[in-house]
Amino acid sequence: MKRIVILGTLVFWLVTTGSVSMGQTGDVDPSSTMRETLSLDQGWRFHLGDIPPDSFPGGEGIRLYGVDITHSGAKAGHAWGAAARGYDDSNWRQIDLPHDWVVEQPFDEKALKQQGYRHRGIAWYRRTFKLDPSDRGRNIELQFDGVATHCTVYFNGTPVHHNFCGYTSFYIDVTSMARYGDAINTIAVRVDAEAMEGWWYEGGGIYRHTWLVKRSPVHVVTDGVYANPVKGADGTWTIPAEVTLANTGFDVASALVEIGVFDSTGKRVAGGHSAPLNIVPLGQAVANFSIPVISPQLWSVDHPNLYTVRTTVLSDNKPVDSVESTCGFRTIRFDAKEGFFLNDQPLKLKGTCNHQDHAGVGVAVPDSIKEFRIRKLKEMGSNAYRSAHNPPSRELLDICDRLGMLVMDETRHFNTSPEYLRQLEWLVRRDRNHPSVILWSLFNEEALEINEEGMEMTRVMNAMVKRLDRTRPTTGGQNKGQLGRDGKANPKNAALTMDVVGINYQAYDYDKIRAAYPDRPMLSTEDTSQVMTRGEYVTDHARNIIASYDDVFPGWDKFSSARNAWEAIARQPSFAGGFFWTGFDYRGEPTPYGWPAASSFFGAMDLCGFPKTEFYLRQALWVKDRPVLTLVPHWNWLGKEGQPVRVMALTNADSVTLSLNGKLIEEKRVDPFKMVEWQVPYAPGRLEAAAKSNVKEVMRYTVETTDEPVSLRLTPDRMQLAGDGNDAIPVTVEALDKAGRHVPTANLLVEFEITGPGAIIGVGNGDPTSHEPEKGNKRSLFNGLAQVIVQSQRDGSGNLVLRAKAEGLKPAETTISVKATPLYVH
Ligand code: GAL
Repeated sequence: MKRIVILGTLVFWLVTTGSVSMGQTGDVDPSSTMRETLSLDQGWRFHLGDIPPDSFPGGEGIRLYGVDITHSGAKAGHAWGAAARGYDDSNWRQIDLPHDWVVEQPFDEKALKQQGYRHRGIAWYRRTFKLDPSDRGRNIELQFDGVATHCTVYFNGTPVHHNFCGYTSFYIDVTSMARYGDAINTIAVRVDAEAMEGWWYEGGGIYRHTWLVKRSPVHVVTDGVYANPVKGADGTWTIPAEVTLANTGFDVASALVEIGVFDSTGKRVAGGHSAPLNIVPLGQAVANFSIPVISPQLWSVDHPNLYTVRTTVLSDNKPVDSVESTCGFRTIRFDAKEGFFLNDQPLKLKGTCNHQDHAGVGVAVPDSIKEFRIRKLKEMGSNAYRSAHNPPSRELLDICDRLGMLVMDETRHFNTSPEYLRQLEWLVRRDRNHPSVILWSLFNEEALEINEEGMEMTRVMNAMVKRLDRTRPTTGGQNKGQLGRDGKANPKNAALTMDVVGINYQAYDYDKIRAAYPDRPMLSTEDTSQVMTRGEYVTDHARNIIASYDDVFPGWDKFSSARNAWEAIARQPSFAGGFFWTGFDYRGEPTPYGWPAASSFFGAMDLCGFPKTEFYLRQALWVKDRPVLTLVPHWNWLGKEGQPVRVMALTNADSVTLSLNGKLIEEKRVDPFKMVEWQVPYAPGRLEAAAKSNVKEVMRYTVETTDEPVSLRLTPDRMQLAGDGNDAIPVTVEALDKAGRHVPTANLLVEFEITGPGAIIGVGNGDPTSHEPEKGNKRSLFNGLAQVIVQSQRDGSGNLVLRAKAEGLKPAETTISVKATPLYVH
């Protein structure tokens, strides 16, 4: 849901820093001047480590009640210690959110391998703010989009929320506890990242956005608009709207809800309104009505047309609240015989599973880096994203809507107790307007999936989802139990109580599972698990290095190679498609190794998003609308003259002719799944491939032996940065030889310097075994590449100049222009 921000005399002090912020200036929507959504991301104080309540002499509780902190701390408004209103945090570190403190920590062999060999721990965050006296009477809500992992939030000395999932958002109505005028409001958050919810790197801290929302007492509740278009059997489109309103005022309110639907040019194309409703004080009411929309432009992965839904609440005929959401007009269908259909067209899901962390920043990934990652996946030919194994951020789904990426949206916990069903309910409520979301995933590889308990739990979760959204099927990543001992459908297993049979791995049993569930749609929810190190072509277990030829995988079965896994899926026409493990490397799970390897080898791209062989392989397997051709390896094999080098062409063409230094080696037909390979005696020079389809040459690709590096190059992903303190750009760092060619074997240390309105927020190089810090201003190239992430500073404008230097090399410089932009709003 898009939040709307108003201009004006918004008074919003950051009391901790003493600075005055005039909130945001920005897009003003005249019809929505009643709701303010203010970013709380800036101006926090941070303390790493716990603060036991009795370990310090101060605190408001103690001052008020003497030494009996047990008694005083149990009273509303009088929490003690770092949770107290008056706690002195002036010597804490100043930080802005999103923040992941774990990525700032050194690697330690004694820390948990699956969490990336970094200590997690407990930490505190505090922030204060004032509210204008004119805010009195409005509804005041704090919103946390994601905190890793468990946390307790205190507002003005009262514990107001316990969060038990690092991937769910929580919204806290603090209207009755807020203070106005000169009185200071204090937020204190104790974050416990010792708690774990996964077997991968989860980071620690308030790593997604935070907001303060001020609304009229009569308002739309957060995630309260369900406006997801549906196509009727007669081919006409409607938006069945369900809008949940609340009234935190003193009187019964009479309200009416109006919805306008706007196309991408801002033209109103449809609209409608509810019947009048009465909402009792401190009560809620739901408005239901339907909006016909004539001939909308469809949303698809190639043409992701979006519409804006503006929901306005009128009370006594005056607009009092307004929110915007987006929607897309598209149909989805999972068919047991023919697979997946988008807008009645068959579409094989070419998906990746992904965790959320990125080089340099851990899980505190700026939104624009999320967008960079989705763009890279699309470039690889992917059309689907599985948020493994947890809810993604709201922004990630907005990006998928905008760029045309289908999403399998997954809850974290397989659990049917009230708290965990509440988390599932939150997920569906938040995400059910996104056209990109096509599947709800209820679990991943749960021990109970094979039996009656699993079946019953899935039944309950499935029903919860259906109460909230009947337009998308449920599935789960099930890696056993679909078949009984007799090879027929196991009469008690999770697959029986969800809509789409999700299969993790088990490609050797695809035919049997298919036959056992003849009437059920089916897909591979997870497959592959090949491992490779970017830019390496000779496996060296002693150094934790894996060659990039798609033939090393950690012992599952032969279907764990990318080529075999995709072939098995492609040969099942009834399968909706598959999601391979994984699009990007992530910290933790350094399978098949352990220390010193600290991050995974599974990605088609490394932690920075630099392509590995699998990226090009997937392009060859997936891209159909243009020729693709890449050769691996690089051609710098000094000392190996005359020895055979394994060369692989990754292409969607029919045949490839390979030549070295102008001399024909051989033309070979390409197996569309296995690709094509040669053993080429090494001689320095130019290795060239020419690809033919239908007897015509369609593409050429060359790799050349380079000289020693003599200079550096910096290539920003974009040349403009929004000056909002949020926008960030990955900059590629590489070494070049005297002819200006990228040197793929360079591993030298590079130092950076930045001037202008921004900062370096992280560095990476994609080496899973590297223990270099991810914060700071230096990083070694790893097989020719490193990445620097630069972020604008708030209210920044002008030129940001990034310089790179390395011993003995000509330095590089790049200038990114920073454009004054209002503070980021959702
Ligand atoms: C799967 C699991 C993933 C990841 C992967 C590694 O079984 O679902 O989370 O652990 O194995 O290959």
